[in-house]
Amino acid sequence: MRQKIVAGNWKMNNDMAETEMFLVGLKKQVLPEGVTIMIAPAFTNLNHTFQSVREHPVTVVAQNMHQSENGAFTGEVSAGMLKSVGVKTVILGHSERRSLFKEDNDVLAEKVNTALAHDMEVIFCIGEELSHRETDDHFTLIEEQLEEGLFHLSEVSWKNIIIAYEPVWAIGTGETATPDQAQEMHAFIRKTIAEKYSNSIANKVSILYGGSVKPKNAKEIFAQKDVDGGLVGGASLDVESFMAIANAFKK
Ligand code: 13P
Repeated sequence: MRQKIVAGNWKMNNDMAETEMFLVGLKKQVLPEGVTIMIAPAFTNLNHTFQSVREHPVTVVAQNMHQSENGAFTGEVSAGMLKSVGVKTVILGHSERRSLFKEDNDVLAEKVNTALAHDMEVIFCIGEELSHRETDDHFTLIEEQLEEGLFHLSEVSWKNIIIAYEPVWAIGTGETATPDQAQEMHAFIRKTIAEKYSNSIANKVSILYGGSVKPKNAKEIFAQKDVDGGLVGGASLDVESFMAIANAFKK
């Protein structure tokens, strides 16, 4: 069975005090069974967060990392550094990294290789802009992001890959893909992986939806056959709304 996941990507939000407030709230919650809960704080709060939730079934995730082992890369953080504070999962290829920080598929493929070489788990983000959808190029674009970012991997590497489909036009806009649009793209992603690798690999990969997931729409989105959870931005900053989303898996 595929892993069900609700992951909070805090982006550049929550300083130390706010992080601590969230963690105190989170640790009071009864976490839903059968759902992997992940949170991705800023680099500065990873160590504290990891220590704070050590005894809790919460996975602490980094939002990015550099592809090199170490060296003269001012401002960057390596896989080894993340591992040294207990972090074993990293988000790569977020659309904000792609568009604002010019990370292309080649660099992302390198980052994926480095993360996997460190036995880390990767949440690999893909997603089209509105212009691609308007010209009916969204499937081609997604296929290209998969091919160039992930399809060099060996079959065995896929056990450490989670995919997050985040249509750029739905991120932070309040506009969500309809459950049908999400299902259509998730099924396409799974089919593309099955054609390149096998049904067995495709059926084991968790594919998360991201883009304005809120407590009010999570249940319907998560009910789709090929949607295995969510990568949540804004609504993950507040414990109550984050937990409401995590609990949307329940009947
Ligand atoms: P929002 O949930 O704020 O739209 O952000 C989605 C996202 O980018 C998660 O990585």
